[in-house]
Amino acid sequence: MTRRTLTPGRLVLASHNAGKLREIRALVEPFGMEVVSASELGLPEPEETGTTFEANSELKARAAAEASGFPALADDSGLSVDALGGDPGIYSARWAGPDKDFAKAMADVEEKLGEAAAKGNDDRTARFVCALCLAWPDGHVETFRGEIAGAMVWPPRGSQGFGYDPAFQPEGHARTFGEMSADEKHGWTSGDNNPLSHRARAFKLFADTCLEPTRAS
Ligand code: IMP
Repeated sequence: MTRRTLTPGRLVLASHNAGKLREIRALVEPFGMEVVSASELGLPEPEETGTTFEANSELKARAAAEASGFPALADDSGLSVDALGGDPGIYSARWAGPDKDFAKAMADVEEKLGEAAAKGNDDRTARFVCALCLAWPDGHVETFRGEIAGAMVWPPRGSQGFGYDPAFQPEGHARTFGEMSADEKHGWTSGDNNPLSHRARAFKLFADTCLEPTRAS
């Protein structure tokens, strides 16, 4: 299937997650896109019935593009902990429950790591994964995956970012994502366009493929 570029204009962000919306808006707006979120348009949140990040991202993007008549970008992402067989994975949001209690979700991960360590597996490696999907109203889709490897730390450190950020320390760094500014988390402080976060890595693939290079740099 041929790749399709996105011309400047309206782009629907198919997410109701404030943290993700903030990050994606900052990533996309420099490319001349007029960003509107699915919640601002009153679009319903489809049930995430997929079994992979890519499948869930695609179903959210397709639903928003069909309902709005505009291209839609969706993010499905999560934390995958090696000693827990990849959990919480696609269920990362659900582990925080209806109250979105990520302090509890991080504590649950830590408790399960403790159980694994008691059985002799003291591996604390993990990765954040992000699948970005861009869907057009005619059904064309493009999907991109970004990952960042690291380790779970305890106790959590830092109050920046969102979700599991304070408990995740990316490989080669001494601070958690929760201790980094958004620009540091995405890897934009060095000016050499070397993305760090899973979302910035997926976004770079998306931008290189689908966006016109209008970003001032
Ligand atoms: P979903 O993609 O809406 O199913 O939710 C993904 C969940 O994964 C979020 O609610 C967060 O808990 C977690 N997550 C995804 N990306 C990040 C990140 O960049 N930092 C911290 N947590 C994240």
